[in-house]
Amino acid sequence: MSQQPKRAGDWDVDVAVLAGSLVHEIKNPLSTLNINAQLLLEDWKDGTGPKEARTVKRLKVIVSEVERLERILQSFLRFTERHELSLKLASLNDLFQELAEFIEPEASRASIQVRLGLDSNLQSFSFDPDLIRQVFLNLILNAKSAMEEKGGELILRTRRIERGGHSWAVGEVIDTGHGMSRQLCDRLFHPYFSTRKGGTGLGLATSKRITEEHGGRIEVESQEGTGSQFSVLLPMEVTRS
Ligand SMILES: Nc1ncnc2c1ncn2[C@@H]1O[C@H](COP(=O)(O)OP(=O)(O)OP(=O)(O)O)[C@@H](O)[C@H]1O
Ligand SMILES: [Mg+2]
Repeated sequence: MSQQPKRAGDWDVDVAVLAGSLVHEIKNPLSTLNINAQLLLEDWKDGTGPKEARTVKRLKVIVSEVERLERILQSFLRFTERHELSLKLASLNDLFQELAEFIEPEASRASIQVRLGLDSNLQSFSFDPDLIRQVFLNLILNAKSAMEEKGGELILRTRRIERGGHSWAVGEVIDTGHGMSRQLCDRLFHPYFSTRKGGTGLGLATSKRITEEHGGRIEVESQEGTGSQFSVLLPMEVTRS
């Protein structure tokens, strides 16, 4: 049987896949632009006259804007890509330990004290460690930005709770930063919502998506001027009654 002819407006292409390929197509010429701008910068940087200085200044603007575009595209890809979960029996405590060690040097430079509280009763369970690391890294970087001006305390905590007949592993990221108003809290997870200079606003949207792909959820409590708490609940096994 012959197929119906396609009409304009008939969509059988996944828009996310299409957008993803477009982004990949844009990334290659962008990196060529970046490399060439860096090479020009190298050629001009030792010049002494006003013309050289002007050229160097403009080239730096080009490099920094190209890099900004590259970051936007990277975040977009991370947000749109379909995650094939690669589930492994892993320890959320080990992941938190590793993240605390990773962030410690940068945090201490920003006068942020990192405190780690691990629940020793939290056993290993099945999750995708790479994707869940990305979730908590987004939360930790947000917490760090919220304390950038004054420093403060970053608490990383794990625990196990029982809710609705299920066991949940909970990972918490708590900060003493500038906090958020009620209205801001309502918009947090919307793609492209950001109040941060240079932020793409895709960090939390991506974290939410990955968490939900695991059957979990993210809960937020925040008070303006005091700080915020993000709790990521991940299902362990069903509790037998
Ligand atoms: N711990 C926090 N304290 C205060 N505000 C926060 C916190 N976490 C998130 N926010 C607010 O939520 C917004 C969205 O966060 P999200 O991580 O999605 O994007 P972003 O950090 O702005 O950019 P990026 O995509 O680079 O992560 C932030 O711009 C900020 O206004
Ligand atoms: Mg962020």
